[in-house]
Amino acid sequence: MKIALSTGGGDAPGLNAVIRAAVLSAVSRGWEVCGIKRGFAGLLGEDEVIALDERSVRGIAHLGGTILRTTNRGNPFSYPRKREDGSTVEVDRSDELIANADALGIHAIISIGGDGSLGIAKRLHDKGVRIVCVPKTIDNDISGTITTFGFDTAVNTALEAIDKLHTTAESHDRVMVMEVMGRNAGFIALHSGLAGTADVILIPEIPYDIDRVCDKIVARDRVGKKFSIVVIAEGAFPKGGRESIRGASLPGEAKRLGGVCEELAMVIQQKTGKECRSLTLGHLQRGGQPTGYDRLLAARFGGAAIKAVEDEQWGTMLALQSPHIVTLPLDEVLREPKRVEPNHDIVLTARAIGISFGD
Ligand code: F6P
Repeated sequence: MKIALSTGGGDAPGLNAVIRAAVLSAVSRGWEVCGIKRGFAGLLGEDEVIALDERSVRGIAHLGGTILRTTNRGNPFSYPRKREDGSTVEVDRSDELIANADALGIHAIISIGGDGSLGIAKRLHDKGVRIVCVPKTIDNDISGTITTFGFDTAVNTALEAIDKLHTTAESHDRVMVMEVMGRNAGFIALHSGLAGTADVILIPEIPYDIDRVCDKIVARDRVGKKFSIVVIAEGAFPKGGRESIRGASLPGEAKRLGGVCEELAMVIQQKTGKECRSLTLGHLQRGGQPTGYDRLLAARFGGAAIKAVEDEQWGTMLALQSPHIVTLPLDEVLREPKRVEPNHDIVLTARAIGISFGD
């Protein structure tokens, strides 16, 4: 039995722990394992396919990033190809990928990735590829699984930043607006905002009214709370408005979100007269050592992926449905992305303790 591992999309702390657990679980069954470098680029002649054994995964469980590297521009069904005139065209290279995997004697692929990678896996499975998926994203926006590894680490990074902003905000009587990642889901903002006792949390699932945001800040000011902390998800937007897109995307890349906090800080300053500063936390949330929770979840997913291959559960994704890891059909998890439920107890608790969602 020869299996291949691939990591695709944005990296998330815990990827290496998945790789380690999968490799060791496979090797202990007497299987051969290889790693496709940079998403699926290694199977398209754009990078390598490397052998993985106990030695290749030694001492990596606590490291962020991925030893296999990754890309968010590697969809084999619409792979960017440069034309002679310098322009780029997207071509379907999935048949080439499948032929190369067959030529290498790869029996099954374990794809570790987010929604983009899951969609690719589904299409490869439809073409007969034996594939099992491990969900990965700091955004926690994948349906069917209670959480994904990387999310807890990102929340803790955001939380540490909020704690630090609190002391400087209080010293200067300032409003600090901090933007966190999450694409179109508000989980990182919600969890870090509540845990970090933010005063305002703005998420894509609850469009905000800037006047309500300012009301909260002014009300705090009136009772002597001269500083405020606003946590905003990068995909949040005002009622009747749109998310803020940052810069131009490269061929094959999804639109980039971000930059919403600068504009928001400026408007709050104009409307309240309070001194405001903004911080985009950015890719710090994707780096660093995975937390213990993420390392454990990643190891469980890695081990369970090998079991799913052994049981020939092709076209499935592993999911945490506490206390168990289960497998779910890709069709089911891809039906709709996971979003914050506006009536979830975390939102209700946040409201009950006085946090404003700007609505
Ligand atoms: O999906 C993970 C994520 O970090 C999002 O939260 C963010 O919008 C995006 O990836 C950033 O991607 P990139 O690495 O392309 O800047």
